[in-house]
Amino acid sequence: MSENENHERSTVSVLGLGQMGTRLAQAFLVAGHATTVWNRSAAKADALVAQGAVRAATVEEAVAASPLVVVCLPDYPTVSDLLEPVAKRLPGRALVNLTSGTPEDAVRSADWAAGHGADYLDGAAMSGTRLVGRPEALFVFSGSPKAFATHRVVLASLGNSVHLGADPALAPVYDTALFGLAWGALAGFYHAVALVGTAGVAPAAFAAVATGHMPFVTSLMAGHARQIEGGRFPDDDGTVEVHAAAMEHLLDTSRARGIGTDVPELIGNLLDRAATTGHGSSGIASVIETITKGERNA
Ligand SMILES: NC(=O)c1ccc[n+]([C@@H]2O[C@H](COP(=O)([O-])OP(=O)(O)OC[C@H]3O[C@@H](n4cnc5c(N)ncnc54)[C@H](OP(=O)(O)O)[C@@H]3O)[C@@H](O)[C@H]2O)c1
Repeated sequence: MSENENHERSTVSVLGLGQMGTRLAQAFLVAGHATTVWNRSAAKADALVAQGAVRAATVEEAVAASPLVVVCLPDYPTVSDLLEPVAKRLPGRALVNLTSGTPEDAVRSADWAAGHGADYLDGAAMSGTRLVGRPEALFVFSGSPKAFATHRVVLASLGNSVHLGADPALAPVYDTALFGLAWGALAGFYHAVALVGTAGVAPAAFAAVATGHMPFVTSLMAGHARQIEGGRFPDDDGTVEVHAAAMEHLLDTSRARGIGTDVPELIGNLLDRAATTGHGSSGIASVIETITKGERNA
């Protein structure tokens, strides 16, 4: 391919057709966007080609095919290895990297892309592969506001696509923070399933009731975020001492029924630490203070 032969024939190119990349390409196609695909093992593109995608024979051809280039590969070194030799095709394009990595990886990639005349967005797929293309699939992006604004409609076909800000590091920071949030909720769920299981309750029966309880839990977040921003912790949702006593009940009941106690112990420790640092009669969002300071129990 010569320097000037860019053959832009698609709206978006997807490089890397693993579990996630395949779902990304499918979502673009379903939304009606002309899509070019490339994968190291070419056969993985067959089903997408049958759905209307254009197969690129090389990485260079894939990059040159669209103004928006989405990469989804195992790690950043693989992304660099593939793109470095075709960097001359990048000027004027938007490069969106949905490969998982660290904030430092994202900043390095953004600098590299800027050095080659491309607008860069780092991104993270937060909802696994199953929901891709549905409105409840969260995708976070950070980096070039221009790239996000220009390609907002195409990126929105992936799901709930949110631009977090111009700092490319934000997407990987949110990625790990939201992963921790999901695991905090799931750890509580698994403990709860074990506990009600000792009373003969089936996991599915419990899940139905627990799902109905989650809107209350999530409703606390916005209010507590305001408290944290203001540095004041009213006890509207109960004090640290009251919650510490309730956590002690959960711990005792778990012990008495012979199940693991790690989850209530972890939360009990947070509450105890808040109480010993003067927040016993504060609201529960005050636990943020010991976490922010990186304090640990002795
Ligand atoms: N799967 C998920 O649920 C999920 C969720 C969130 C984020 N992610 C992130 O998405 C990224 C991709 O994950 P995935 O699940 O799609 O991975 P995957 O199914 O293992 O696919 C990996 C892809 O990378 C390609 N690849 C690997 N090494 C390569 C190399 N040296 N040169 C060129 N291509 C290479 C593979 O090509 P071949 O087909 O030729 O092997 C394949 O297309 C990862 O960073 C992952 O953390 C995945």
